[in-house]
Amino acid sequence: MIEKKKPVICFTLCYGIVAMVSLVWCSLTLAPVWAAPEKTYVGSEACQECHEGEYKSFKTYAKKAHSYESIATMKKGLNEAEFRTCFECHTTGFGQPGGFQSLQDTPHLKNAGCEVCHGPGSLHIESEDPGDLNEDLTAKDCETCHSSERVAAFDYRPLIHGGAH
Ligand code: HEC
Ligand code: HEC
Ligand code: HEC
Ligand code: HEC
Repeated sequence: MIEKKKPVICFTLCYGIVAMVSLVWCSLTLAPVWAAPEKTYVGSEACQECHEGEYKSFKTYAKKAHSYESIATMKKGLNEAEFRTCFECHTTGFGQPGGFQSLQDTPHLKNAGCEVCHGPGSLHIESEDPGDLNEDLTAKDCETCHSSERVAAFDYRPLIHGGAH
């Protein structure tokens, strides 16, 4: 009889709606957690123990390894806002999650390090999987900093294997 079935239908319907709403809510709130863990910057020193050779030659030959010095020596003539514009290229990961913020808070990221080319290394230093880094670097990966204006101004084009190790 219809009278008796009503509560059952109502219950099923209500249950269905509640289940659906909570499913949507869950997937919305948990989506960032389910997504791949965010990679952050660890600094060049963290690469040393496993890549001694690259680390040594980078430290010895690459100007990037001292790129904070370059801007520090010019700081006097600049106001704070102007100085901060230098961070984008002369430090590691400025403006990105876990990137350089200030000398006090993130001294290990003050120079443009391994990760400006290879990408944030937090996952890789645990997994040791090259797939957790930027793969197949091309000249495009250099252009954010070695922009065409700058390349023209300095009259040189970065070679893909230059300035690294
Ligand atoms: C705990 C050890 C460890 C640490 C720390 C580490 N790596 Fe690695 N890395 C490895 C191993 C192991 C491989 C894989 C080597 C292979 O497959 O030939 C690798 C591979 C790589 C490769 C790719 C090499 C290729 O042949 O494609 C790059 C680039 C790299 N690491 C960069 C870094 C950078 C940059 C850091 C610091 C942020 C770092 N690694 C820190 C262990 C480490
Ligand atoms: C995050 C910004 C950034 C990225 C990305 C970047 N560079 Fe650089 N690079 C710099 C800065 C800054 C300097 C100058 C450092 C200084 O003298 O203070 C530099 C210097 C250099 C030099 C000068 C020579 C030397 O010994 O260091 C070469 C060559 C070079 N980079 C090549 C490359 C290549 C190739 C890539 C891409 C694979 C690349 N760079 C990606 C910021 C960057
Ligand atoms: C868009 C990226 C970018 C920004 C922003 C930037 N630089 Fe650079 N800077 C570079 C690159 C790349 C080089 C390497 C020189 C080249 O292109 O040949 C460099 C080189 C230099 C050098 C020469 C170092 C040497 O050894 O000859 C100095 C000094 C310098 N920058 C200071 C600054 C200052 C100060 C600021 C902020 C006002 C700044 N840069 C902002 C990318 C940048
Ligand atoms: C200027 C960009 C740049 C910087 C900075 C840089 N690398 Fe690389 N690295 C490269 C390029 C380009 C390759 C060639 C392989 C490729 O195309 O992915 C490479 C290759 C490697 C490899 C693979 C083995 C090899 O020599 O081919 C390792 C390991 C590595 N880098 C580690 C490091 C470490 C550790 C640092 C910091 C101490 C560093 N790199 C800094 C651009 C860079």
